[in-house]
Amino acid sequence: MRIADFALERYFARWEFAVDHLLCASDVEAWRIADLLELADDEARRLWAGLRLGYTESSGHPLLRAEIARLYDRIDPDDVLVFAGAEEAIFCLSNVLLGPGDHAVVTWPGYQSLFEVGRAAGAEVTLHELHEADGWALDVGRLIASLRPETRLVVVNAPHNPTGMLPTHAEWARLGDALADRGIHLFADEVYRFLELDESDRLVAGADLFERGVSLGVMSKSFAMAGLRIGWLASRDANLLARCAAFKDYTTICSSAPSEILALIGLRARDRVLGRSLRIVTDNLALLHDFFRRQAGRLVWVAPRGGSVAFPRLLGDASIDDLAKRLVEAEGVLLLPGSQFGHPGNHFRLGFGREDLPEALPRFEAFLDRGA
Ligand SMILES: Cc1ncc(COP(=O)(O)O)c(C=O)c1O
Repeated sequence: MRIADFALERYFARWEFAVDHLLCASDVEAWRIADLLELADDEARRLWAGLRLGYTESSGHPLLRAEIARLYDRIDPDDVLVFAGAEEAIFCLSNVLLGPGDHAVVTWPGYQSLFEVGRAAGAEVTLHELHEADGWALDVGRLIASLRPETRLVVVNAPHNPTGMLPTHAEWARLGDALADRGIHLFADEVYRFLELDESDRLVAGADLFERGVSLGVMSKSFAMAGLRIGWLASRDANLLARCAAFKDYTTICSSAPSEILALIGLRARDRVLGRSLRIVTDNLALLHDFFRRQAGRLVWVAPRGGSVAFPRLLGDASIDDLAKRLVEAEGVLLLPGSQFGHPGNHFRLGFGREDLPEALPRFEAFLDRGA
């Protein structure tokens, strides 16, 4: 298999652990293991204390799958398959569903593997481009018009990285109906689910929407435990999950035993876990709203509707790539220029899931105010 470099991941490999502040991280400030263990119920505490470090069930620990299934309305534990992060699930599903002669439509700009793996598998991929002028909204009519007889998969990430886009309930239902009618799978990348700023905006999960809907979930983002590397697929399409499970035999076979138990604890305590995450992003967003008001002559943004990232734009002639380079050198604050998404505008990704944003943002602002 030949596959293009994952630009964003190469950028993070260079910078993530070399800077003072990641003002472009896509996750939420990670839990400390000691704090997480305090949330364990008696059963999970026993599982943790007696855990053997052997191989685990390749489809995922039964209790973990049961807990994941509770996040959905129409999903049983057998409809869940656990992976090493969302990334492995994307890799397996794209390879299983797409090959030469197949076509997929994927929201863009976006997380590169969502379209790159399908391309590497030989499929033709149409990027469904979101535009700032439309408030980054998904254009369901245009998306449906881009479907072809050979379209096998539509990939929508919502809440969306990097724009914070979230479709309306009506648009989401319209898309689900159109795909169900045509027998096309929907791959709903819901790694930022539960971080909707208005809870009533939370969409019906892809796996609940129709038989061929597939939900992608992970502990990394809303659940703030990226280091567990625990993700999952949920779907009522048993045949598809069985094919993904068979493919996984060539990637990780099974998940990390300690991570499965820690994920179980996190999911059982999800009200506490998600409450903390929402508090962090809403506190940070309040600072960002003021910041963008003050910086209106230099920056514009479409305020996100969910998730922990936004995609503002630098106004004027200066290039964001150049500014980001000078900012990290001068202040140790990292931005992610849109070029890392292959996006031609002067945009950058801003992350607001980290607890150091109240320190990082003033450094960024001081840099801007110096006219640097
Ligand atoms: C939209 C989206 N999908 C999937 C992933 C992969 O998640 P993980 O790194 O936890 O595997 C990410 C990570 O940034 C993401 O932003």
